[in-house]
Amino acid sequence: MLFRVKVMRMAGGRIPEDVIQAVLRAHDIVETVGRTVHLTKSGKYLKGLCPFHSEKTPSFTVTPEKGIFHCYGCGKSGNVIRFRMELEGYTFPEAVRVMAEEAGIPLPRGAGVPAEPSPAQLERQKLIEAHEYAAKFYHYLLQNTEHGKEAKEYLKRRGMSDKLIDRFMIGIAPERGDLLTGFLEKRGYDMRLMEKGGLVAARSDGTGYYDRFRGRIMFPIRDRDGRTIAFAGRILHDGQPKYINSPDSVLFNKSRVLYNFHEARPEIRKSGRVVLFEGYMDVIRAWDAGVRNGVASMGTSFTEEHAAILRRVAEEAVICYDGDDAGQAAALKTAAIFESAGMPVKIVLLPGGLDPDEYIGKYGPESFVRDMIGQPMSAVKFRLIFLRKNHKMLEEEGRKDYVLEAVRVIAGLDSPAEREFYLRELAREFDFPLETLRQECARIRSAAQKKPIPGDKSGNRWNNGRNETAPPPAGWVPEPPGRHHVERTLLYWMMHDAEAAEYVRDKLGDAFQAEDHAAIAAYLYAYYAQGNEPDVTRFFSTLQDERLERTAASILSMETVPPCTSDNLEAYAEEVLRRQRLAALKERVEERIRAERAGDALRAARIAVEIHNLERQLRGKATRPS
Ligand code: GTP
Ligand code: MN
Repeated sequence: MLFRVKVMRMAGGRIPEDVIQAVLRAHDIVETVGRTVHLTKSGKYLKGLCPFHSEKTPSFTVTPEKGIFHCYGCGKSGNVIRFRMELEGYTFPEAVRVMAEEAGIPLPRGAGVPAEPSPAQLERQKLIEAHEYAAKFYHYLLQNTEHGKEAKEYLKRRGMSDKLIDRFMIGIAPERGDLLTGFLEKRGYDMRLMEKGGLVAARSDGTGYYDRFRGRIMFPIRDRDGRTIAFAGRILHDGQPKYINSPDSVLFNKSRVLYNFHEARPEIRKSGRVVLFEGYMDVIRAWDAGVRNGVASMGTSFTEEHAAILRRVAEEAVICYDGDDAGQAAALKTAAIFESAGMPVKIVLLPGGLDPDEYIGKYGPESFVRDMIGQPMSAVKFRLIFLRKNHKMLEEEGRKDYVLEAVRVIAGLDSPAEREFYLRELAREFDFPLETLRQECARIRSAAQKKPIPGDKSGNRWNNGRNETAPPPAGWVPEPPGRHHVERTLLYWMMHDAEAAEYVRDKLGDAFQAEDHAAIAAYLYAYYAQGNEPDVTRFFSTLQDERLERTAASILSMETVPPCTSDNLEAYAEEVLRRQRLAALKERVEERIRAERAGDALRAARIAVEIHNLERQLRGKATRPS
């Protein structure tokens, strides 16, 4: 894909074209793919179940002749390097570097790796090395020495098998506080550097150093490449603080690092989903239960930077924090951060104030995976439940206040279908007239439309800079992508996939609202009708209009495009239709008013019937919970 080529540069310099070619020659696509996908022959190509989305019938193909893979289900395609990038979450230079190493292809100095490490880089390298040693050292002490005996019993009591302890390299930092220091000194490490990295601390009388972590169970923390860059130490007995983390350093930045991200990344990619936990123990126990896409932030604060990192690899987040009040409040905060990063989020509400680790202990791993992780609720639903805590639900007045506040939350939803769904639920539960709730909801929405949110437009999280026309609604939930974004996404898919174009042609024809979009669609239909394969460069040459070309180019460089699954296609095309019906409805209503004013009762009545039909069409969608 021509707009992805830019990533070839990294810190150390460019990867020469001949290395890339050698990597491509050395790695057979059939063999590489065959390691993860069971392929069967089918004419000129091989077929299998796509590793990038879940499916029951194969739509994933490999064409050995061209050295490419393509999935008709999710639209992923590319050569063998792209396959590894998708599967393992590598960037382009990372994939090339790894694949070159595997094949014994020498990388010239400065290609993908720094030629002459700077002093700062050398420090980092040394510090990482020391962390790797320390992790092994602590782990060894836990598994093989008297120092680890008590901790090991404790971990066993908490359901940690040897296998898990090994997998996560859990260790023990003994109480006495001189073992790691001695170990590092003996190996000649610069102790001032070790102090900066937080492995040791200097004695106040200046007589040397001692271990920073003492009497703690040690969880190594790795960066996105799997290198150990910090530790979290849990106190062995009760006491405060329960956890100590390494201080932020040249290696470690709490607001960017996620525990277990390196291990979880392949499964996050594959499932499109990341599960976010509060604690390290939760990640580990959940992993053991089969949840391989779980990560945790360091401590409880989840940051925008974390969200940005996860957004690059996942389409959806599931928050599984502790079931107590603090955990739920934190889940709401985290949900808002995901949403303002433009990432859909669901929330698991654990019963009885349990945390995931405790839930697994009490109800077993199967129930955890099936009933909890497998049944997350929408963020809105969660908010509505959470809201109950603020009201005296046993009193009439309290219930009324709750309902009104709940309507405010619902009014923040952009999708009429969802609004309708939740309003109905509310009406049913509290025996409120649905019509009243609808009116209240509409009132809140129109009030919000008249009152623009003060401040910078692109920075406000209601429109994420995407929706030029819709005013900000009240409530919590940011709007889903605006009209242009929906149409642009459709066009993006159509440019890469002939079948998608065919589907949209049948469903929408030229019913795009933006004129340029309709024109580009028309060109695309013609392009494919002439028997052309998807090829962006070629398609561009047929456009012959500078403005269209610019629009098409900007569509191609869209930052995040969801996968082109048939569900997505349908939903997006539906959305264009829905917006069109809405616009038609508005127009008709105005027409009716004009007719009435002009005294043309017959015409007004005819239009009223049309309005009724349009409304029914819209409501037909609206009553189906999405
Ligand atoms: P266990 O009590 O061993 O089950 O650990 P936990 O992970 O369940 O602990 P808890 O639910 O109390 O805390 C959740 C997360 O918050 C932990 O994994 C830590 O990341 C963080 N945390 C908890 N207590 C402390 C603390 O005293 N200091 C720091 N820095 N972080 C803490
Ligand atoms: Mn716990």
